[in-house]
Amino acid sequence: MSIGIVILAGGRGERMRMDIPKPMVSVGGKPLIDFPINEALLFLNKNNLKGGITSVTGYLHEMLDEYLKENFIENGVEMDLVLQREQLGTAHAIQMYVEQNKNAADYDYTLILCGDTPLIRERHLSKLWNILNQEKLDAVAASFLEDDPSGYGRIVEGDSGFHIVEEKDADEEIRKISEVNSGLYIVKTDFLLDNLREIDSDNKAGEFYLTDIFKDNRRVQAVLFDDPESFMGVNDVKQLEEAGLFLNFEKIDLLRNEGVRFIDSTTCYVDWDCSIGPDSVIHPNVIIRGRSRVDKNVVVESGCILTNSIVEEGGQLRPYSVLEEAHVGKNAMIGPFARLRPGADIGQESKVGNFVEIKKAVLDKGVKVSHLSYIGDAHIGENTNLGCGFITCNYDGANKNFTDIGENCFIGSDSQMIAPLKIEDDCYVGSGSTINKDLPKGSFAVSRSKQVTYKGMARKFLKKKGQ
Ligand code: UD1
Ligand code: CA
Repeated sequence: MSIGIVILAGGRGERMRMDIPKPMVSVGGKPLIDFPINEALLFLNKNNLKGGITSVTGYLHEMLDEYLKENFIENGVEMDLVLQREQLGTAHAIQMYVEQNKNAADYDYTLILCGDTPLIRERHLSKLWNILNQEKLDAVAASFLEDDPSGYGRIVEGDSGFHIVEEKDADEEIRKISEVNSGLYIVKTDFLLDNLREIDSDNKAGEFYLTDIFKDNRRVQAVLFDDPESFMGVNDVKQLEEAGLFLNFEKIDLLRNEGVRFIDSTTCYVDWDCSIGPDSVIHPNVIIRGRSRVDKNVVVESGCILTNSIVEEGGQLRPYSVLEEAHVGKNAMIGPFARLRPGADIGQESKVGNFVEIKKAVLDKGVKVSHLSYIGDAHIGENTNLGCGFITCNYDGANKNFTDIGENCFIGSDSQMIAPLKIEDDCYVGSGSTINKDLPKGSFAVSRSKQVTYKGMARKFLKKKGQ
């Protein structure tokens, strides 16, 4: 059996008031449209179905098409793009799909998803699919009960079959119906094609409603789901926020089931594509974003923000550390108040302490940089100790230059390295040195002006009160 999957993403989404296509608006760390695409792929895989995915784009389609090409099609996802030049309604969008995708009519079934329902999961698609097959129906629509059904199409049951009345066209009685249409359908393709032809735009919105394929006294059924939050559509910024919160809740629940411990998950935000290993502990007020990967047995203390970063097993992020495209090796300790910028690569068992900023620098195993430092464009060899206030002077006003420090070095506090520079293994640099010449292996270097001491002269500068 084969199934064509259509994701409707052509609408203007004008209630969002944004200047990007709605399907590209981010929730849980990625565009809305990623969710139906990923769930559709899981559905095909789980049910062993042959099928293809088509996205119907329209409003600002150049931007959306490019996004889909770069992130799905070029990554091996088989997807067709169909253009709906004018947004004349959901049935018109399907009409465009049928006209432009030459395989559309060949699939036995057609599954239709909206690009703005990010909480629908593979399990919902599979349940709908099973009911369609078991009950030998021509079409099914997923429905749910909504206390405030405004904006949704209402499910009106017939003696058999049902039909859908959109909010705009509903009279007072129908508006009271709390069973609403989710916009998720599976339909026999023949049935879809037959009924699509009959749809007109004779309604208040003047749109071609796909919902008109459902009629009383047909072999169609509205399948009522008992988790209404999964079906919410994102039409305005309030719903976007709500969807984000549900998504976070769902994500945290999944992580808990995998053995991640939260002290107070209501204050934590974890993007959908992040992973956290078992036995890790996440303290309150932590944000983990993008595609971050936190391995097992990691402690993330309060106030930490991770973006697209990796923390390996046993790592410890102490409070208020901020990581962006950074990599932290096994058992390394970061913070409190550390800032790891893109390209910071901290070796296992290394220690990066408070008020340390690291950018584009590799620290090998066991490096210590415990206090108040800046390290940019550098490599620091194994077991080297960088004293308090150490700085790489990597930028000369025109170019970024590299500092390469070998292993087992001791660099005294308040030292600066004026890059480009190479310090070989086993060197010792005295505190307060400004180093601008390479050091051969095993060197001692100190560069500071000679101290002068005048006994008793302090009196001259320390004026006592009343003198
Ligand atoms: C639609 C349903 C409604 C249901 C609700 C669930 C219709 C007529 N109504 O209403 O019964 O309760 O979803 O969330 O289908 N789109 C296009 N081209 C168009 C119009 C829309 O691709 O010409 C896409 C949109 O981008 C969106 C989806 O179709 O992803 C749904 O459109 P939207 O305008 O959000 O429909 P609703 O008014 O929410
Ligand atoms: Ca909608």
